[in-house]
Amino acid sequence: MQTVKRAGRIHGDVRVPGDKSISHRAVMFSALAKGTTRIDGFLAGADCLSTISCFRRLGIDIEQNGENVTVQGKGWFGLTEPQDILDIGNSGTTIRLMMGILSTQPFHSVLIGDESIARRPMKRVTGPLRQMGADIAGRQNGEYTPLSIRGGKLNGVEYHSPVSSAQVKSAVLLAGLQAEGETVVYEPECSRDHTERMLRSFGVDMESFDGGVRVRGGQQLISPGDVHVPGDISSAAFLLAAAAIVPDSHLMIRNVGVNPTRTGIIDVLKQMGANLTLHNEREVNGEPVADIEIKYAPLTAVEIGGSLIPRLIDEVPVIAVLATQAEGTTIIRDAAELKVKETNRIDTVVAELRKFGAGIEPTEDGMRIQGRTTLSGAVCDSHGDHRIGMAMAIAGLVAEGTTGITQTEAVNVSFPGFFELIQTVQLPDEK
Ligand code: S3P
Repeated sequence: MQTVKRAGRIHGDVRVPGDKSISHRAVMFSALAKGTTRIDGFLAGADCLSTISCFRRLGIDIEQNGENVTVQGKGWFGLTEPQDILDIGNSGTTIRLMMGILSTQPFHSVLIGDESIARRPMKRVTGPLRQMGADIAGRQNGEYTPLSIRGGKLNGVEYHSPVSSAQVKSAVLLAGLQAEGETVVYEPECSRDHTERMLRSFGVDMESFDGGVRVRGGQQLISPGDVHVPGDISSAAFLLAAAAIVPDSHLMIRNVGVNPTRTGIIDVLKQMGANLTLHNEREVNGEPVADIEIKYAPLTAVEIGGSLIPRLIDEVPVIAVLATQAEGTTIIRDAAELKVKETNRIDTVVAELRKFGAGIEPTEDGMRIQGRTTLSGAVCDSHGDHRIGMAMAIAGLVAEGTTGITQTEAVNVSFPGFFELIQTVQLPDEK
């Protein structure tokens, strides 16, 4: 069990590990492009390591040394039939994007993952891929893993996704890259666009328009040579939240990706009254990057919903923690997607924060959180969900006494070194 004590203040000048979404895509697209790609800033967390191991099984030579990865791509059809199953571990991004890629390949493959993956819905991807002609089988008619894919020739599709999901959009676009004709994906609200940005840097021509993305089939990827991965704003969010709620804090986080499809947390922090500034804004590999400075300031409640939700979906657990320390009632709506993440994050956030004495209630598509509350140290559980484990650790920094968190190995999925880093940025509470 990991323990966290109430902190005196949070201060320092730090970096966070590489962006998870961008790290996955960097490995996948490098493997599918002809030529050598050197990736730096790679997130050596469990999820992205699963992506590497799957592509090795597909015959791609990948050297990984911490944050540095070299991929010897062989072109889109340079992958070979895997002799064994492809185990994607806990990673929804790996399985869903690979479904799109494997559907175009002239061979058979089988995808499995852990217990959490076995409960997550896959029809959202199986459905449109089948419309394109893909042959995919799985439990409950392709809803759940294990999934078996017999790849082959696909036709372009015009797909109106009922959910705003970058994993769905990316899977269909990747399949569309090798399909006959044109593929268009529409989504209700714009989800993160790392696939579109990175594919462009690999020489792919695709058109993003209001409400969707269009791609022409038959395009090959060309390696840009180098890919630099910025720090993950979803990891930075935990540290930003810590500095936002622990009085007298002052923290600088360098080299964080600030793609507008991911910066909902910055908008929410500012709206709550946080003293937050972006410095040195620049563009790296077509992705906006900045250094983020935050100083403690009292927070007020917010209402969050609509198009903001996809821009902060992974940050809801830590936003709930922020809300316990903000004056007033925070309401989060339009976030039913939380129910199909690594855990049902409406249920797990509510159950765990209640252990600290937080006033929090689940709703059909989100939650209501009463602030400000004095939290008391508790023994809580990550439920095997990295972001739940980290959110509870941040709650522990403002809770009276000591907090214990079980199953914290899950944190390695996206933020190896998280507990060490929060130790280095805090001064003990002298009260
Ligand atoms: C991701 C997309 C999001 C996000 C996940 C990473 C990606 O999932 O929650 O952590 O890299 O494409 P959905 O596509 O299910 O919204």
